[in-house]
Order: sequence, then structure tokens, then C-alpha cells
Amino acid sequence: MKLSVELAPHSQRGLLLKNPVMTASGTVEYGIEYAKMVDIKQLGAIVCKGTTLTPRPGNPQPRLAETASGLLNSVGLQNIGIDALIKEKAPTWATWSVPVIVNIASESAEEYAQLARKLEGVAGVSGIEVNIGCPNVVKGGMEFGQSPETAAEVTKAVKSQTSLPVIVKLTPNVTDIVPIAQAVAGAGADALSLINTVVGMAIDITQRKPFLGGISGGLSGPAIKPIALHMVYRVSQAVEVPVIGCGGIGCADDALEFIMAGATAVQIGTANMVDPNAPLEVLEGIERFMEREGIKDIADLVGMAKAS
Ligand SMILES: Cc1cc2nc3c(=O)[nH]c(=O)nc-3n(C[C@H](O)[C@H](O)[C@H](O)COP(=O)(O)O)c2cc1C
Repeated sequence: MKLSVELAPHSQRGLLLKNPVMTASGTVEYGIEYAKMVDIKQLGAIVCKGTTLTPRPGNPQPRLAETASGLLNSVGLQNIGIDALIKEKAPTWATWSVPVIVNIASESAEEYAQLARKLEGVAGVSGIEVNIGCPNVVKGGMEFGQSPETAAEVTKAVKSQTSLPVIVKLTPNVTDIVPIAQAVAGAGADALSLINTVVGMAIDITQRKPFLGGISGGLSGPAIKPIALHMVYRVSQAVEVPVIGCGGIGCADDALEFIMAGATAVQIGTANMVDPNAPLEVLEGIERFMEREGIKDIADLVGMAKAS
């Protein structure tokens, strides 16, 4: 049974995953604590927490609110900064067989380019995921992903500074995601990942004010799965590069839906916070499905649900 997938077929280096199951950014931090709980070498890839040029303390508490079938977060890109990541985390990653993809976020195209430049040649880093859709920061983040022009500008800036495969992560908080996906692919992205969280909020009725310290937050988990699935279905038919599906995946059937909608690989986020073994269970379920259905290569399932 062939489970391996190539996420960057047009990049010099390529990004070959032994299977299509990855963790989603922000839900396993830098993977190091996670590796103490889960046999990460079985996974396709680890995507680390969104990283900025300088360390960020993140948003005021509370940062998490549970909703019906979902989670609202307003973490606000709390992170240690790119220099500490390179010095303190990458040496551990360099000893792993599982590829690590560094998720980056910034307030300007120049800064995105600087982040990419810093990651060039760093042992332990196999790819870059460019977050142009973070709803939880005051400056930068989501607005880059809300127009085809700025999304393409950031993509070009990053690509010009790196030989690493570049995945651009799209926001669902737009009128139409397809032209943005096309602009990013046209600007040289090796792959696209979608979706980031959907903007929302909660009110504390006792205090009569917004519940989250950051006021609004990003909704994730099962509640957003149908939205993500529809976007993956549409985007994967509109671009030539691989699409990574993300949003509400909690079991193998969810992942298979995304793959049949057109995703080459999947990322699992909120489900990790409920059960850190969720990605491995998803992988085992995919394998069982393929065995049962006599599917020899996972590639044969990609986009199978597309209307002919
Ligand atoms: C607590 C939390 C933190 C997150 N941090 C990031 C981040 O730093 N960068 C990013 O691109 N996405 C971040 N995300 C978004 C996830 O990677 C993912 O796109 C989203 O949650 C949808 O997938 P899910 O429903 O499986 O969680 C975060 C999500 C959560 C729940």
C-alpha cells in the first residue's frame, strides 16, 4: 500500500511525506513536548506554532472558549521568535526522521521575506508554511490573505528568499477564496493549505462584555469542517499545486472526505487538543479503509469525489 505523498513536486528539494497526515500549526507547539506523548515518526509531518521575527507575548486571557462543536481561540501568535526557534528547537528537529515545517507570520512582506531568509539552510527545517490568515492579531496576519494582490506579494517575497518548499495557508474569511488561491499559486507557492480559523466571538453575559481577551477569535474544530471541505473542493479544482486540507478533521472518515474532495494531505489541529493520538488514529483508519476497499495508492483517492 502506497501512502507517501509529494507536497512540492515543482520545488528543487521537494517535500516528500511518508503519509498524508500532518499536525496543524498552533496545536502541538514546536512538537517537542508532543513527541514525548506521541510516536511522531509515524506521522507525515509536524507543523510548528506560528513564528514571528521577534517574540510575542500573545493576547490577554482568556484565550480559549468552547462553542457548540468547536473552539474559539485568541492566542494572538504567542511565540518565542525566529532566532530562538532556530537556536533552541531546530537542533532537536534535525535528529527526527519526521519533516518539520515552520509556520511563519508577519506584519509586512519584507518581514515575511526576512523570516524565510533566516530559515534558509537551517538543519531540521524541511519547509515553510506562510500564515496569511491569522485572525487574532491587531496588525498584519489576516489582511494579507484577503486580497489576491497582497497574498501574491507575500508569496513572491518568501519564495525569493528560500529554496525550501513553500506552503501558503489561506484564510476562509474572504468573499471568494478561489482567486486568492490562484494568485498565490501563480506567485510560486509549492502547495496551499486551507483553512485557517473562521472569525467569531463569544459574550460573557454576566460581565456583559466579550468573553475573549482579544474580543474576537478564530473558530476551529468540527463546526468548521463543512466550510473547509467546500473550500478544498473548489480550490483543488482551480489550481495545479497540491492542496492540504484542514478544518475539523477528527477521524479517518473526515480525512478521507478531504482527500476525496481534492486534498493531497491533511492537517489535524483542534482534535489534538482533545486526544494527542488523533493524527495516528486518523492514519490507521485511512490504512484500514484502503485495505478494505482495495486501494493500492493514496493518490488514487485524491479528488475522487469531484464531479466529472
Ligand atoms: C489554539 C490554536 C492555535 C493556532 N495557531 C495557529 C498558528 O499559529 N498559525 C496558523 O497558521 N494556524 C494556527 N491555528 C489554526 C490551525 O492550524 C487550523 O488551521 C485550524 O484550527 C483549523 O483546523 P482544526 O479544526 O483541525 O483545528 C491555530 C488553531 C488553534 C486551535
